[in-house]
Amino acid sequence: MSTPARGVVVTGAAGDLGRALCRRFVDDGWAVFAADLAPVAEAEGVVPARVDVTDRAQVFDLAERAAAAAPLQAWVNAAGIFVAGAVSDADEATWERVVAVNLGGTFHGCAAALRVLARAGGGRIVNVGSVSGQVGGTGVHPAYGASKAGVHALTKTYALEGARHGVLCNAVAPGLLEGSMSHEFGDRARERLESANPMRRFGRMDEVAHVIRFLADASNTYMNGAIVPVNGGAYMPS
Ligand SMILES: NC(=O)c1ccc[n+]([C@@H]2O[C@H](COP(=O)([O-])OP(=O)(O)OC[C@H]3O[C@@H](n4cnc5c(N)ncnc54)[C@H](O)[C@@H]3O)[C@@H](O)[C@H]2O)c1
Repeated sequence: MSTPARGVVVTGAAGDLGRALCRRFVDDGWAVFAADLAPVAEAEGVVPARVDVTDRAQVFDLAERAAAAAPLQAWVNAAGIFVAGAVSDADEATWERVVAVNLGGTFHGCAAALRVLARAGGGRIVNVGSVSGQVGGTGVHPAYGASKAGVHALTKTYALEGARHGVLCNAVAPGLLEGSMSHEFGDRARERLESANPMRRFGRMDEVAHVIRFLADASNTYMNGAIVPVNGGAYMPS
């Protein structure tokens, strides 16, 4: 009898980064539980799930279904929304929505993942933060950086709590990436941001997926609570 594929839950799986993550995990032989509000494309090794990450019950239900279907080893919280705009015009409704998805959704994901991974004897949680959570940003609703700073803090809390259950929790903090989110900025702003990067380009989704894949792996046995910059050197915290 063949060993069942190890499982990973990826939220935001229909998005640019989520699709790159699904490809990468499937290529490496994982069973991917691909959750998103938007439809996820059917593919070999991918189990699509329509889940709103702001709905705690849906996220916990996803965790139980995934854990019942495969030996779950990792959970990636990649669902997120980004709203460009002048900080001086920032409205409260957008604040609520961004915080609910980016921070609340990651909280529900961490809580559900800790429950099922601890029960299985251990695993890895990887959150998707942002350089905006480290340095803030103009031209973006202030909720974005605030929610991502919250994701970084959540990561450390779940790293502390998860450690005694064998559940390590880390985050990536990407800079601006090639994809639909960066097109929220106008062409002039994109050019300015691109040329300000030491590498003179935005990151690619597969470059971030590569780092997440490492953090999700059981072979990462001692990195815990890290916020890993994936930004081309645009910001280098000591
Ligand atoms: N693209 C960038 O430049 C960049 C930079 C730093 C961090 N990030 C972060 O990376 C992650 C992925 O971003 P992306 O570039 O793939 O963006 P994307 O918009 O392509 O993907 C985000 C996905 O999240 C899903 N989503 C939104 N609300 C949801 C909800 N309530 N429930 C379930 N799914 C929901 C969307 O449907 C979408 O498929 C986000 O957390 C984002 O903040 C992106």
